[in-house]
Amino acid sequence: MKESWLKKGFVDEPVDPGIDLAGEIKRLTKEKNAIILAHYYQEAEIQEIADFVGDSLDLSRAAANASADIIMFAGVHFMAETAKILAPDKKVLIPDLNAGCSLAESCPADEFSRFRNEHPDHIVITYVNTTAAIKALSDICCTSTNARKIVEQIPKDQKIIFAPDRNLGNYLNSLTGRDMLIWNGACHVHEEFSLEKILLLKNDYPDALIIAHPECQKPIRIVADFIGSTSALLKFSTESKADQFIVATESGILHQMRKANPGKLFIPAPPNDSTCACNDCKFMKLHNLRKIYLTLKHEWPEVTVDEEIRVRAEKPIRRMLEMS
Ligand code: 13P
Ligand code: SF4
Repeated sequence: MKESWLKKGFVDEPVDPGIDLAGEIKRLTKEKNAIILAHYYQEAEIQEIADFVGDSLDLSRAAANASADIIMFAGVHFMAETAKILAPDKKVLIPDLNAGCSLAESCPADEFSRFRNEHPDHIVITYVNTTAAIKALSDICCTSTNARKIVEQIPKDQKIIFAPDRNLGNYLNSLTGRDMLIWNGACHVHEEFSLEKILLLKNDYPDALIIAHPECQKPIRIVADFIGSTSALLKFSTESKADQFIVATESGILHQMRKANPGKLFIPAPPNDSTCACNDCKFMKLHNLRKIYLTLKHEWPEVTVDEEIRVRAEKPIRRMLEMS
């Protein structure tokens, strides 16, 4: 493997500009018995070539049930790592190894291990937006789709540590009446939404419903008409009688919303500090069709997990799948 690829974290070789990338990707997936899993935050052209598009929970399930030999994961690293933890015999590829997650980074394993040891009477529930090392220190994982359901299954007298997202944690405390001990982590995308700009939009579109991901800060959650995971936001906007929505989550989801609801208007909620009207996750948006094609061709970059960590990390994920 070329030294420069290793340094860059993705395959960087010239591609014939006349090539039909989508067609070549299709050919390679068939030839290599591969499937492409894509998160809702991916570019529209990636969602269009994927075999399966979903939220974090659906993607974990799809990885666990996949019969393919290769899983091409168009999402961020912790998602591909979860696929590898659940499907260790498969080769899991990611188009760019630099696709991290600011929320996962806000919870380093050494600090979290100390925190956990200081509270031995607490069980640990972690959001899947964590590294495998954090999952290995957890009792149960959750996603934004099943978090409430999982917390509600824990006996009321059992103390809980919730990590890493402070916004989702606080939201869950308010929904369930629990007093979970919350790790002080956050996502740079969801913390960036501007309440002022959202309210100005609401002024211009008074009939629009504000819909938000639970990783958003409290003021955004307070003005939201509906709060939910990516798949819940998609379902709500499809089933709702309303035909205008201000969407406070990463802008990639708007592709499926518009596709499922051609007559409705979807307005991305703007961030604080940007001239751009929408809010992108810079990690999710590192992937493109060219990188997917080259990754399939060279079967690199591959996502691997140390076996001792993988075995420990699998337990809380399986527990989540059983409980959700
Ligand atoms: P979902 O589980 O709702 O798809 O969210 C994943 C994520 O990374 C949100 O920022
Ligand atoms: Fe992580 Fe935030 Fe990107 Fe989701 S949007 S993958 S939480 S950085």
